Parts: sequence; C-alpha cells; structure tokens
Amino acid sequence: MEQIIDKLSALVENACKSKENIFGYGIWSHHIKPMIPLGQRLAEEYGADKEIVTIAILLHDLASIEDEKNYKDHHSIGAKRAEEILTAYKHPQDRIEMIKSCILNHRSSVNNNKNSKEEICVADADAIIHLTEIASLFYAAYKEMHKTIEEGQEWIKGKLEKDYKKLSERSKEKYKEEIETIIKLLEQ
Ligand SMILES: [Fe+2]
Ligand SMILES: [Fe+2]
Repeated sequence: MEQIIDKLSALVENACKSKENIFGYGIWSHHIKPMIPLGQRLAEEYGADKEIVTIAILLHDLASIEDEKNYKDHHSIGAKRAEEILTAYKHPQDRIEMIKSCILNHRSSVNNNKNSKEEICVADADAIIHLTEIASLFYAAYKEMHKTIEEGQEWIKGKLEKDYKKLSERSKEKYKEEIETIIKLLEQ
C-alpha cells in the first residue's frame, strides 16, 4: 500500500505546485493532505477499505487542479484520469473501479447516490475538512475569488450548508452542532 500512496502523493503534490493550478498550493496543504488521516479514521469507523479511500482522496480533485476548465466535470473527468494513472501503475482493475466510483460520487451537487462505504468516507471527508480547515474557505472567498465581505459570508454559508446535506447520517449527527454554530456566526 505504502508505495503506490507515496507515488500518488508526489504526483498530486507536484500538480498542486504547478502554475496551471488555479487553487494554489493550499489545495494540497489544507485540503487533500489533511483529508487523508480524516478519511482513514472514517474508514476505520465505517469498516471501509483504507487504501481505496486514501487513493480516491488523493485523486478526487486532480482533474480541476490539472486544468481549471475541468472544474464543472472534475468528478467524471477525474474518475477517468484515475483509471489512466492507476492502470499505468498496474493497480488491480476491481480496485480501480471502486476508486473511480468514489471520485465520481464525491460531489453532493452532482450525484448523491453513494453505493459503498468507501464512497461515503471520501464524500464525508471532503465536507468535514471544511470545518477543520475553515480558514481555507475564507482564503478561497476573499483572496482567490475577490468577494466582498457580505458576498464571502454568503458563499461560505452556502458551502457549509451544502456540505451538511452531503454528509452521511452518522456524520450529520456528529457535526450538526459545529456547522450550525459556524453558520450562526456568519449570519451575525
Ligand atoms: Fe471536488
Ligand atoms: Fe475536494
């Protein structure tokens, strides 16, 4: 497991360092990287396959990191990209399929049909990370998207509301209070 994870980590971190990446290095340091231990903890709680979850987390946003034009469809383009990369590493085909489903279904706005425990772990981690890395949302709103204070507040609030809807029932219960508190602070 270690070897492929190391190789993929290097590949994704490099893509994040590239000037093609419009999100900045923070998408690695404050999104993907901290999602890994979080996803692995969720995998333990759910009895999901840790390696599948880890690889899917590493690759879930790669399509839009490599090319911002892919953003709208980064879930489906990302699934294809994952297949390409993992096939080149001779990763087992059945596991590639599971990883592809995690990437395809990581966005609540696009597809909310999660069929496996691994898909739930990746989508949950993608939402929960916004709470533990809340500063990255402010960075995105004000620094990257140049929003006004009010626009930024609305955008972050909307983002957290969307994140909450996408959570599994179990995570909803666990994070309800925290999300509500942050939303309330943003409404003041
Ligand atoms: Fe994404
Ligand atoms: Fe993400």
